[in-house]
Amino acid sequence: MTDVLPAGDHRINGSALEAVFEILPMGLMLFDAGDRLLQCNAAARDYFAPIAKAIKPGASFEKLARRMAEQAVRRDGASADDWLAARLGRHRNGDVAFEEQLADGRWLRVSENLVAGIGGMVVYDDITAQKTHERKVRESASRYQDLNNIGVALSAEKNVNRLLEMILQEAKKISNADGGTVYLYANQEASDWKPKDRIDQRSGGDRRSGYDRRGPLVAKGEKAKPLKERRAGLMDMRSDRRLDIDRRARPDVLKSAIMLNDTLDIAMGGTTGKEIPFPPLRIFDPVTGEGNYRNVATVAALTGETVDIPDAYDSEEFDFSGTKAFDAANDYRSKSFLTIPMKNKQDEVIGVLQMINARDRDSGETIAFDPEDRKIIESLASQAAVTLDNQMLLEGQKVLLDSFIQLIAGAIDEKSPYTGGHCERVPKLTEMLAEAACQATTGPFRDFQLTAEEKYELHIAGWMHDCGKVTTPEYVVDKSTKLETIYDRIETVVTRFETLKRDAEIACLKDLAAGGIDPARREAEHRAELERLDADREFIKQANVGGEFMDDDKKDRVRRIAAMTWRAPDGEEAPFLDENESYNLCISRGTLTAEERTIINDHIVVTIEMLAKLPFPKSLRRVPEYAGGHHEKMDGTGYPRGLKRNQMSTPARMMAIADIFEALTAADRPYKKAKPLSVAMKIMGFMKNDNHIDPDLFELFVESGVYREYAENFLAPDQIDEVDHDALLGRKS
Ligand SMILES: [Fe+2]
Ligand SMILES: [Fe+2]
Repeated sequence: MTDVLPAGDHRINGSALEAVFEILPMGLMLFDAGDRLLQCNAAARDYFAPIAKAIKPGASFEKLARRMAEQAVRRDGASADDWLAARLGRHRNGDVAFEEQLADGRWLRVSENLVAGIGGMVVYDDITAQKTHERKVRESASRYQDLNNIGVALSAEKNVNRLLEMILQEAKKISNADGGTVYLYANQEASDWKPKDRIDQRSGGDRRSGYDRRGPLVAKGEKAKPLKERRAGLMDMRSDRRLDIDRRARPDVLKSAIMLNDTLDIAMGGTTGKEIPFPPLRIFDPVTGEGNYRNVATVAALTGETVDIPDAYDSEEFDFSGTKAFDAANDYRSKSFLTIPMKNKQDEVIGVLQMINARDRDSGETIAFDPEDRKIIESLASQAAVTLDNQMLLEGQKVLLDSFIQLIAGAIDEKSPYTGGHCERVPKLTEMLAEAACQATTGPFRDFQLTAEEKYELHIAGWMHDCGKVTTPEYVVDKSTKLETIYDRIETVVTRFETLKRDAEIACLKDLAAGGIDPARREAEHRAELERLDADREFIKQANVGGEFMDDDKKDRVRRIAAMTWRAPDGEEAPFLDENESYNLCISRGTLTAEERTIINDHIVVTIEMLAKLPFPKSLRRVPEYAGGHHEKMDGTGYPRGLKRNQMSTPARMMAIADIFEALTAADRPYKKAKPLSVAMKIMGFMKNDNHIDPDLFELFVESGVYREYAENFLAPDQIDEVDHDALLGRKS
């Protein structure tokens, strides 16, 4: 510097040098030894235009720097005083270089060239382009990092709705878009379609993003492929060759699954719980089978290619008049659209991600989608599609499993008109009790919790708890009389009585015909016999119903009747009742023999055996334990395993309570009225006292009001009466 500038006045004036100084691309400011401005060139004046008035010869560096701090630069949060102090420090040090950002966003590299006793020169280079490039590199590195993180987060998400939301939110973040929609590919029920449901030629079904295709389906600047080639590439318009199905009968649609828009304050679908009111977009015309080339989203689905539209209003290829009408009605301006098909591993389109109105990060102005952003969103969409496809597949399988289990339960419930609905109500009641335990903040269940997966496990167990009943013979499940097998044998027995009566009559008539006896006496004898047979018949009919206790006298009478003989169809004398008939008629209480009781109780053994054969995944491994324990008693006297309370999990003990309560409150026989709520609860109270059911769970059942909530939902109104909690729980009222 000393070589360049000797002492004295260093202004460059009146020479060619001054002209050059003025037009140099870098900004220059010359100062004298007293740090006062000598000269400033055009570039520097442009950089510091906001303080143009202060830039005049003689102005002190400090004064200029103060004005810069106040008006011309960005201080990145520092106060004007702090910025000034730092700037002055650098100026005094001289020979330093650093970066400064102008208020208008441009970046300068500043170098101070100071020569003691002579003066100095500050040089400003515009490095905005370099800084922008650096920022882009940094941003894109961090975006790829983000994308990686999103990939990990996506694959961890099990809920399809949350997954959809995550995809849309991330795509919005990447492009700083105002809104977007995720559509899912679906097959609408054929019955929902009518031939008159042609595709709206104006909007393609959706006014927000519909257009009339005027030209080839490409954005400006791209080379158009002939339409024929595009069609042939991805989809056959009229039929699906693999399935040999006419597209007209296969109404593929795009359904909006989630929709967000910041400006219009729209958040629908996904986890919001708000229904999306827009009808699905038809992909094919129901009459012609032609693809719907009038809507951006369906075009993306049909071609499998991204459609990128910088400004819908300027588009020469597309007519967005429908969108314009929507905008006018909603005070909105739809501008840029980025529509990306989401494809699964098999390269099938399973959905469409559509973003609207990318916004500049600095100015907030709506701009076209950045090509870099587009690449990243495409990559996100493809990752998301694979995860989504997997999740939808899993969810589909879960629904199928659920339906299958409910189908079995339904078949069991169908077996008995009296206990029907048991398999359906037990899981509901068990889940209600489990929920009450999860909600408890005090008492023995204050720490009890079930995760969503564990709740599902209990749900499955509840639905399967009586699955062994599929093997229980119907006549046993529903045996309503003692003589019932696959039909009620009482009728054959009654017929035998009739035979006996006729035989008696024949004998009487033969005796009378033979003569030699007193006819009056013989007829009296005959009448007495008929009366005795009628009485016996009525007695057997009565016994068959099982309504009253059979004492020893009654059993003796059955055996006496059984010992009578009649002439069977083969002409041989046979006992009036066979062994099985008299055994059944001698049942002391109810209609079931001890063997039949065992068969009924055996359903739990069959349940356990059946469930043991199913390869439950880890998350469902406790289903057999939960389902197989509902006939165990806390004191170890239950069946089949004789488990005690501490050998059973809490959910298994819950199911035992649910099973008993459901059975007690259901109308179990057509001639018996269902028990009132108070009676059922009283019986359960005895069971608690006898240590048959878990006392803590019973208390929770009573105190949480679950029993009442259940009653209100599932019992007849006339069954619901007052229940005395204090009496049930052994407290003094
Ligand atoms: Fe059972
Ligand atoms: Fe049951």
